[in-house]
Amino acid sequence: MSWVKNVVTGSLGKKFLMSLTGLFLITFLVVHLIGNLQLLKDDGGYAFNTYSVFMTTNPIIKTVSYILYFSILLHVFVSIALTIKNSKARPTGYRVNKPGSTSIWQSRNMGILGTIVLIFLVIHLQGFWAQYKWGDMPYVKYEFNDVGEVSRSSIANQDVTEELKHEEGVYRDLFMVVEDAFAQWWIVAIYVVSMIGLAFHLSHGFQSAFQTLGINHASYTPTIKFVGMVFSIVIPALFAWIPIYFFFIH
Ligand code: HEM
Repeated sequence: MSWVKNVVTGSLGKKFLMSLTGLFLITFLVVHLIGNLQLLKDDGGYAFNTYSVFMTTNPIIKTVSYILYFSILLHVFVSIALTIKNSKARPTGYRVNKPGSTSIWQSRNMGILGTIVLIFLVIHLQGFWAQYKWGDMPYVKYEFNDVGEVSRSSIANQDVTEELKHEEGVYRDLFMVVEDAFAQWWIVAIYVVSMIGLAFHLSHGFQSAFQTLGINHASYTPTIKFVGMVFSIVIPALFAWIPIYFFFIH
């Protein structure tokens, strides 16, 4: 098992782990965004609330979620280990230092950008994910009319019985939790600023992951860099649009 030791202790192995977990987290972002775009439908949260039930009960998705939590932790811990190792290896008293001449700003600030994303993640998970798992959630009942239009009626907390929870059309109202959160300007501001941090983090991380994995060639590296640049703008911009939409338009 010496290769396992090499992967965990060597710099190259650590970078390899950073790339693999990073690419997995990038894939998660796409799936998560597609799910969250259901919030923008004008259906009183029906699509989003039914999607949330699927995401939290489907056994395959649940298993992938555990891999996701593990990947986030691994990505964070390995990055800390790499930073410590690099700072120890750096010669002290090296005064002729022109960082801008050899690397772009985001590549030198991946730690700070990653920390912004991590702080965002803690706030984000506490606000939505932990609420859904352990919080006192509101409930909603959906009904369809003859032409398939959906209407919603919130259920007061004191009226939520065990029987009612299992009635057809009754859901835990995660949509309302999101709606309430994004009615507050400071939460919207946290999301928008964090998505700017995420954009810069991805703009270096995306192409760097491919490079570390050895997927690097004059003929296709420019394409990877271009896709990375588009990805790192479009995905965070769409994530940021959701709270902006709720605050100003919804
Ligand atoms: C407007 C933007 C976003 C909204 C409205 C949103 C909404 C939600 C909601 C409602 C949940 C809990 C229900 C669920 O597990 O699906 C959740 C979970 C989660 N979110 Fe987000 N999210 C947003 C952006 C992000 C971003 C940018 C990241 C990562 C940087 C992220 C990472 C996560 C993670 C890791 C979970 C836990 C997933 C799981 O348990 O499988 N979210 N999000």
